[in-house]
Amino acid sequence: MQKLEVFGAKKLKGQIYISGSKNASLPILAATLLSRKEITLKNLPKVKDIETMINLLQSLGSITKFEGQSLVVDNSKQKKIFASYNLVKTMRAGILVLGPLLAKFGNAKVSLPGGCAIGTRPVDIHLKALSKLGVKFQILNGYVYANASKGLVGANITFPKISVGATENLIIAACFAKGSTILKNCAIEPEIKDLVNFLIKMGCKIKWIGKRSIKISGVKEVKEISYSVMFDRIEAGTYLIAAALTEGNLQIKNVIPNIIKTELNILKKIGAKIKVSRNKVNIIGKKKIKSLKIKTSPYPGFPTDLQAQIMVLLCKANKKSIIREDIFENRFMHVAELNRMGAQILTKGNKALVKGNINFVPAELMATDLRASVSLVLAALTAKGKSVINRIYHLDRGYENIEKKLKKVGVKIRRIN
Ligand code: UD1
Repeated sequence: MQKLEVFGAKKLKGQIYISGSKNASLPILAATLLSRKEITLKNLPKVKDIETMINLLQSLGSITKFEGQSLVVDNSKQKKIFASYNLVKTMRAGILVLGPLLAKFGNAKVSLPGGCAIGTRPVDIHLKALSKLGVKFQILNGYVYANASKGLVGANITFPKISVGATENLIIAACFAKGSTILKNCAIEPEIKDLVNFLIKMGCKIKWIGKRSIKISGVKEVKEISYSVMFDRIEAGTYLIAAALTEGNLQIKNVIPNIIKTELNILKKIGAKIKVSRNKVNIIGKKKIKSLKIKTSPYPGFPTDLQAQIMVLLCKANKKSIIREDIFENRFMHVAELNRMGAQILTKGNKALVKGNINFVPAELMATDLRASVSLVLAALTAKGKSVINRIYHLDRGYENIEKKLKKVGVKIRRIN
């Protein structure tokens, strides 16, 4: 199993080019299943989750090939409706093929994603909403057997809770439903807007009709298109935090600053100096980091996917901070490892009390999930000496070329097989 050796402490200096968004690419890849033609996708990040989704598409009969940096997905012969446990178990986003398969064939057998380290993460909201489009479900041996023999029919649906995945699954499914569908209480993460832009470019009829409401009028087929996926705002946030943490001076390129306004405001509040231009952000980290009370919430709130990273930063703050995790029930698994590095974080239910003025010490560490892993890398950046992070396959699920990018801005880091 591969490990990362990180040598701290160093101030990050230079430029980092942000990759395409993993969380936008995944639903867009799933949505290519609607098509019977060729779709070209640009700016996909080269990370494990994307590889898994491409494997899943191939297992369903899609033909995929890379042409330079673009991926061409040819679904002219795609006929299979079975998404196996082997592929869905490692990546919850596998459930996103359910919507497009039902839209296209009225039939699907998709493995339930199962448990996940950061919480139970059920798919009840996806299934309940799809049933309103006329889908009948049976759950047998860990699989969802879904059937809409007369095809999907548009409906008015209000999600009981904001869910990114359920919103995506329903938007994609409704594109081919008879009549119109209105979805209310939708997640409005930028990745969902990117998915919608992709679908509209393919010829789907979708309109935002309110802050969290969307109207979809069913169409019968979609066009051959080429689409470039948006930047990864979580990767961008991670490197911005890394700069703030190490008194660094970084330029983050290939971003739309307006999309990450919440994160930039938080970083300004803690004392970092930020300058924004068209598709770049400059950040200078200051010695004094101010403490904060912060909670995670759906977009435009502070993202749960940056909670572990901001926690590392707040360990260096001048006073005690409080972090409330409002999205997932078990997303503090990084805490034990950070405490092994000298942090003093106490969790109580969904709250973490983070003591400030901590000097991290290097240690041998265990990555537990994607964002927890990167928080360990961040802590290691500030710890004088060598830290070793095990099980970095979690990191490889979502961060493209992390060592290369960090090396370029002055970090001594290497991967060991
Ligand atoms: C997506 C992101 C993930 C991010 C999360 C929240 C992708 C591939 N993943 O995950 O990185 O952390 O949004 O921003 O884009 N829930 C239910 N029933 C359901 C669905 C969800 O109870 O049917 C609950 C979940 O357990 C969780 C909350 O709703 O507590 C939000 O989950 P959701 O927004 O669906 O997250 P994902 O789409 O899985």
